[in-house]
Amino acid sequence: MKIFLIGFMGSGKSTIGKSLAKTLQFNFTDLDNYIEKRTSKSIKQIFTEKGEQYFRCLEKDFLQEVILKENIVIATGGGTPCFYNNMKTILDNGISIYLRMQAKDLAERLCKEKNKRPLIEKLSCNKLDEFISSRLIEREKFYLKATHIINAKKVNIDTLRNLVLG
Ligand code: S3P
Repeated sequence: MKIFLIGFMGSGKSTIGKSLAKTLQFNFTDLDNYIEKRTSKSIKQIFTEKGEQYFRCLEKDFLQEVILKENIVIATGGGTPCFYNNMKTILDNGISIYLRMQAKDLAERLCKEKNKRPLIEKLSCNKLDEFISSRLIEREKFYLKATHIINAKKVNIDTLRNLVLG
């Protein structure tokens, strides 16, 4: 079984993914960390040195690699489902969970964690809300295709566990 956590930056994909993997006794992979290990570069470095398009291409290729593993929880990057045919790959290969959160809550969280995220690091905290709101409108076209949609502010790992085990 493969479980994909999807959602905007700051929605808790990695934290929740780790806990879910633990209760299910599954492996856990964070796609961003995987890309960093495989390329020996930070996400920020890849964006700065090669640009977003290059990053998206790596992201697509490494998604294909991580889905080869079994019994795994995968925390994708915030943009992963929205490029190439990645959302189809996700839907065809396992159960997906969209960690849904409102723009204002995401902005509040991300204001403190902007630095390692190249798409938002230069935005002031005041501008974050606006940026996230417009990106969410585009991205929810993909996120909302997920198998399950849950409120990311009220996640209970046991509920999530029962949800995926059906
Ligand atoms: C991105 C989200 C990041 C990372 C990259 C681009 C995005 O992942 O993949 O900075 O486009 O939303 P997180 O959602 O884990 O922060």
